Amino acid sequence: MSSEGSGAPKSMLQTDTVKLDSWQKEILKRWQGKTAKGLPLSVKDELLRQFDGEVLFDEPMAKHTYIKIGGPADVFLKPNSLTAVQHALRLASAHDIPFHFHGSGANTLVRDGGIRGMVICPYDALKAFSVVEQTEDHVDIEAEAGVPWVKLVHLSRDLGVSGLEPLTGIPGSLGGLIAMNAGTREREMKDIVREVTLLDKSGELTTLPREKLDFEYRHLRITRTQFIVRATLRLEPFTSTSDVDSAIKRYQERRIETQPLDFPNLGSMFKNPVPKSARDLVAPAGRLIEEAGLKNVRVGGARISSKHANFIINEGSATARDVIALINLAKDRVRDMTGTVLETEVKIIGEDNDAH
Ligand code: EPU
Repeated sequence: MSSEGSGAPKSMLQTDTVKLDSWQKEILKRWQGKTAKGLPLSVKDELLRQFDGEVLFDEPMAKHTYIKIGGPADVFLKPNSLTAVQHALRLASAHDIPFHFHGSGANTLVRDGGIRGMVICPYDALKAFSVVEQTEDHVDIEAEAGVPWVKLVHLSRDLGVSGLEPLTGIPGSLGGLIAMNAGTREREMKDIVREVTLLDKSGELTTLPREKLDFEYRHLRITRTQFIVRATLRLEPFTSTSDVDSAIKRYQERRIETQPLDFPNLGSMFKNPVPKSARDLVAPAGRLIEEAGLKNVRVGGARISSKHANFIINEGSATARDVIALINLAKDRVRDMTGTVLETEVKIIGEDNDAH
């Protein structure tokens, strides 16, 4: 069985599945080996005295990910406002501290060694949403990135406007769903997004219309140092509250029937493979993993679900290493059996615990 340790590079720099820009790489390189204790005293002091929000040192990321896995973040910040996010960014820049924006953790696997530098988690400060336009043709909803997706699905039901039903039950908050271009075969986030406001590492806000947003399959092309702050979604005009409600219920029931929601998980682990041409038929990731005989296979506390093979569940004591071993096993087996190379949908970040 292939496992993450075998020949794989160890540091967050080399093993991230998320692309870092050159500025982040350079800063992270300088930070290697330091922990929260290595944080300049003046920064610690300023955070503890002046930061508008919660400041936690050596905070287990397991508390902030849906799958309940992940080593400590050197510094974990929960800003109360965008101004506080900008304060954190200024400190990071002035003291060469690497930083990572964290959302709700629905789609992120953090390695067991945790995350060096600052983790900035602004979602508690980004919970507002409202209807901003209503015409005969459409209804526009503006929402901040930290609004749980389920809330927006329920809002669409209460308003009787259609458009979000096929996306019912995707775990996470608005920002994460847009960053992932989350979706199903029926609909993706790119189909409903009208505009997105991004915060960059200098603290500037930029609003981009849909035409300027580079959506790919299960991915929005933005850099690691940009963060989605809010977005406007365009839904269909009023249909009927009960029609929307019954569609949502149908999708919910199907999800409960087919997905292992009773254990911590990260949603779909792999993207569904994209056919090379319109004539090609490629089975979805769940079917490929099932056909590779891997349903119910366990490594440590992690298991490939017997209900849906594209889900890995944490049975209670799983480590990131266990999950990554299963990811690699699924990739290897499916590639050997079918030639298809599976790509993770989940983002894997942080360091192995033997990286120091
Ligand atoms: N299948 C199998 N074996 C399995 C699992 C699935 O044969 O173990 C087959 C199913 O029978 C079905 C096909 O694979 O014919 C596709 O499965 P499913 O309908 O469950 O959809 P999916 O493509 O696996 C997508 C989204 C999910 C979303 C569901 C809603 C992706 C990568 N995932 O899953 O999104 O909830 O549709 O039906 O597109 C997420 O992104 O985290 C997520 C949960």
